Amino acid sequence: MASQTAIILAAGLGKRMKSALPKVLQPIAGRPLLHYPVRAALEAGCDDVVVVVGHGRDLVEKYLQSAFDGRVRTVVQETQRGTGDAARVGAAALGDATGGRTVVVFYGDVPLIEAADLRLVLEHKKASQAPLAIATCVVADPTGYGRIIRDERRKVVAIREQRDLENDDQRAIQEINPGIYVADAHWLVAALGELDAKNAQGELYMTDIVERAAKRGEDVTGIDARESVLFGVNDRVQLFEAEKRMHRRIRAKHQRNGVTVRGGALIDDSVEIEVDAHVDTNAVLRGATLIGEGTHVGVGAVLVDVVVGPGAVIKPYSVLEKSRVGARAQIGPFSHLRPESELADDVHVGNFVETKKTKMAAGSKANHLAYLGDGIVGERANIGAGTIFCNYDGVQKHTTTIEKDAFIGSDSQLVAPVTVGAGAYVATGTTVTRDVPADALAIARPKQENKEGYASKLRARMRAQKEDAAKRK
Ligand code: UD1
Ligand code: CA
Repeated sequence: MASQTAIILAAGLGKRMKSALPKVLQPIAGRPLLHYPVRAALEAGCDDVVVVVGHGRDLVEKYLQSAFDGRVRTVVQETQRGTGDAARVGAAALGDATGGRTVVVFYGDVPLIEAADLRLVLEHKKASQAPLAIATCVVADPTGYGRIIRDERRKVVAIREQRDLENDDQRAIQEINPGIYVADAHWLVAALGELDAKNAQGELYMTDIVERAAKRGEDVTGIDARESVLFGVNDRVQLFEAEKRMHRRIRAKHQRNGVTVRGGALIDDSVEIEVDAHVDTNAVLRGATLIGEGTHVGVGAVLVDVVVGPGAVIKPYSVLEKSRVGARAQIGPFSHLRPESELADDVHVGNFVETKKTKMAAGSKANHLAYLGDGIVGERANIGAGTIFCNYDGVQKHTTTIEKDAFIGSDSQLVAPVTVGAGAYVATGTTVTRDVPADALAIARPKQENKEGYASKLRARMRAQKEDAAKRK
């Protein structure tokens, strides 16, 4: 394969974001905006990806390092003198390695761009004799974009920025510049070297390489791109719109892969879902979440960094974070799995049950109203309604261990550190402060007394007291 460099311009401040975070790191469907253009370049077969950074460069470099693991280089544009200057800084990173190399330059603030969009222009360049190929796009509202100026023979002769438009005829042009440029490396380096800042903003414009080429009598060839490639993000309104489109795209990908996704569900780019899973209305799946085959995620459930095995059911409005859920498990409705909850196969956790840093072995159950913090629950153990693992003494956290087949009666408190042995039985309402041996019964509550025929006497006395009080008023 021919060697191909991508230069992605991402040094700008993004003033209109009004954010301390650099524009290209603003999140879209769970990843920074810049992730998508960089990924598109790699997927398009670029063996060298150069990102031009400036504002917030430390954060941007750190992200690119961690996300793309050395497959991306960065160069710094110290002052933002325009897209032409940024491209020049990027091209300088090629050094002498320009022979036989094709370069695609594009902007880092267009999150909806995909490898296919870049390939389209790369292939168009290859198929033509022209030294420069660009994408073009016809849109209903061209405001704000650079316009494609063509001569009488329909040849591209310039790109004119909105502020530099000369007359109403030019303003009416609906063919605009989405911002993908492909040229041979040595040609590009020379072309960028000739740019000057004679324009409304006093900047070096990347777009000027077009007019200069045309004036030299060189061909510039345009190819029609999809409308989505030009969707640039400059403020948070556009950020929202980009995310909406991204979510739609992600949803369609899963649907084509055999996943049912219902209206209003939001799935981050990083989420993986296996075949025949159902993701119901308003469910939100984020981060490193993986949903197993045939698993149902109910209405309004929120899963962040959660791995769920096959055939599980996450019922409505459950909130799960940094946890694992086994095959065929049933969670919710209204369960809360906090970080480091590890639920094995066939576990049932029901409504208003909160777990934190707790392991529940296969087939164990906590069906109603419980707090299980710092616990280890054995196979098939049954935890009754209202059970609390008292894990915190005000200073330290302690572990509650429930061994296999144990039964914890409703409304019990287990004051950790404490162990309930295998098959043991804790009677309802017991406060367990000492270990319970295997197969033992633990019961700690005052004995009940029944006074026969006493209830009516009690009522009579209370009525008399009430009448007395009324008389005295
Ligand atoms: C640019 C194009 C315009 C096109 C539009 C498409 C130019 C002069 N104009 O305009 O024709 O229709 O994109 O979205 O190229 N950047 C730097 N360094 C700089 C300036 C910008 O790295 O000195 C980066 C920005 O971070 C951004 C990208 O280049 O990611 C585009 O810059 P921006 O100022 O947004 O250009 P537009 O006005 O949108
Ligand atoms: Ca822009």
